[in-house]
Amino acid sequence: MTVYEAELVVDRRDVAADGVLALTLRHPLGEELPAWEPGAHIDVLLGPDLERQYSLCGDPADRHVWRIAVLREPDGRGGSAYVHGQLAAGDKVRVRGPRNHFALAAAPRYRFVAGGIGITPILPMLAAAEAAGAQWTLLYGGRTRNSMAFTEELARYGDRVRIAPQDETGLLDLDMALADPAPDTLVYCCGPGPLLDAVEERCAVWPKGALHVERFEPKAQEAGENTEFEVVLERSGHTLTVPADVSVLDTVRAAGVEVLYSCTEGTCGTCETDVIEGTPDHRDSVLTDEEREAGETMLICVSRCAGKRLVLDL
Ligand code: FES
Repeated sequence: MTVYEAELVVDRRDVAADGVLALTLRHPLGEELPAWEPGAHIDVLLGPDLERQYSLCGDPADRHVWRIAVLREPDGRGGSAYVHGQLAAGDKVRVRGPRNHFALAAAPRYRFVAGGIGITPILPMLAAAEAAGAQWTLLYGGRTRNSMAFTEELARYGDRVRIAPQDETGLLDLDMALADPAPDTLVYCCGPGPLLDAVEERCAVWPKGALHVERFEPKAQEAGENTEFEVVLERSGHTLTVPADVSVLDTVRAAGVEVLYSCTEGTCGTCETDVIEGTPDHRDSVLTDEEREAGETMLICVSRCAGKRLVLDL
């Protein structure tokens, strides 16, 4: 599968909220960009070993610009500092994608929950839900009102959007938003880990598959002990040993097999690989419970083998 990769130009650089920049990116020759659906993200290649994922938060119908929003994270690993401190309008930046592990499934009703910069993938979902004539509500939390991006754009939706800054109203009232499972209703949530954990807890009583989340940080999970196993790469004909302290991704790369990857922490989905035989020990933060059970794909940057041997489509 060929993934689009290009050098785009930063067309605009707008302050979307305290500590949040919205960037619009264009092709330098005005070429159309690949189509995308709400929930999609792109990899932004900010420098050697500095690659970050950002959700597309503009209008999918506009094929000439992509919009992303970047939160300044003082304790981050350098990506947001680079964007805020050095990336100027007119600069070029390499991007890859789009990719979507948070697609909006068709439903008559939605409950959206966003925390902070987690509003970005939700924003185009609201427009899509609206265009499809669905009933929906959004509960949107943030530290302070000024730190919450795109509140002006959300104003057009009236009281379907509840803006809840923590310093005014405290923590999001998830019990009220999610206490009663509603029929034919899907829940979409994006935000910091503790918010997603709390939403997952509330949605445990909802029908299977009702909740869809996207994580920017790896989910804390109990992983079993790492053991050595064998991995067979069906297409390239390699049989490799994955040592207990090395990932499948690193093992495959060390054998000289090209594979796309980005975050290396199981959140972006770039390294998703088809499993032909064997049972993966899933340790990612991307796949749904159903996808984990099906075992047809795995994220090879973090996931391992539940047995002794995996056969992968590589
Ligand atoms: S590289 Fe991001 S999930 Fe594996």
